[in-house]
Amino acid sequence: MSELIKDGLRIDGRKPDELRPIKIEAGVLYRADGSCYLEWGGNKVLAAVYGPREAIPRHIQDPTKALVNARYNMASFSVKERKRPGPDRRSTEISKVTSEALENVIFTELFPRTTIDVNIEVLDAEAGTRCAGITAAAVALADAGIPMRDIPVACAAGKVDGVVVLDLSAEEDQQGDADLPIAISPRSEEILLLQMDGHLTYKEFEEALELALKGAKYVSKLQKEALMKKYKG
Ligand code: CDP
Repeated sequence: MSELIKDGLRIDGRKPDELRPIKIEAGVLYRADGSCYLEWGGNKVLAAVYGPREAIPRHIQDPTKALVNARYNMASFSVKERKRPGPDRRSTEISKVTSEALENVIFTELFPRTTIDVNIEVLDAEAGTRCAGITAAAVALADAGIPMRDIPVACAAGKVDGVVVLDLSAEEDQQGDADLPIAISPRSEEILLLQMDGHLTYKEFEEALELALKGAKYVSKLQKEALMKKYKG
C-alpha cells in the first residue's frame, strides 16, 4: 500500500490543511480584453477573455443575455503521457462546468446577443487544473471589466490515506481516496461548482467541503491582490 501521509505530513511536506504555492498575475496578454497567468503547485494556466462581442452566427444569439463560452484546453505537452491535441470528453466536461460556474456570477443580462469567450490553456498540469482554470478565468474576467456579482474562485479538498486534506497533488489525486473540487462566490459562499471523485462518508464530505471553502477564501485574497497590483501599480 502506498504511504501518502507520514507522521502527519504529506509526501510534499504539506500539512493536511495546507495549499500548494500559488502565484497570480493579471493582464499578461496584449490582445485579449482581459487575461491572467496563474501557477498553482505544478500547474501553469493562462486565461484569456474576449468580449462581450456580437455572437456569431446570429442564430446562437440570446436576445435576453450574453452567452458565456468557456473553453478549457490542455496542451499536449502539459502532461507526462503526451495528450492528443484537441477536445476530448474530459475537456468538454470541464469547459461546460466552467461556463456554468462563471455564468452564475456575470451580469449576463446587461449584454444581450453577445458572447463572452473565456479561453483556458493548461500549459503544465499537476492535478487540480479545473480549479486553477476557473480561478484564472475569474481574474481575466475582472481584468476585462466584465461586471460580476463577485469574483469566483475554486479550490479542491479530498481524502488520502483516510485523512481529509486540502488541494491534492498529482500523486494524491491518483492514489488517494477522493477529490472534491468546488467553485464559490466567496462573499455569499454560494456554490458554483461541486464535483466529486471517489468516496467520502457524509461526515468526511462536510469536513472536506469546509476545508475547500477555507482554501478558496484564501485564494480569493490572492486574486484580489493580483488585480490590485495591476490597477494600483
Ligand atoms: O486537473 P483536474 O484535477 O481538475 O482534473 P482530473 O481529470 O481529476 O485530472 C487530474 C490530473 O490528471 C490532471 O491535473 C493532470 O495532471 C492529470 N492528467 C493527465 O496526466 N493526462 C490527461 N490526459 C488528463 C489528466
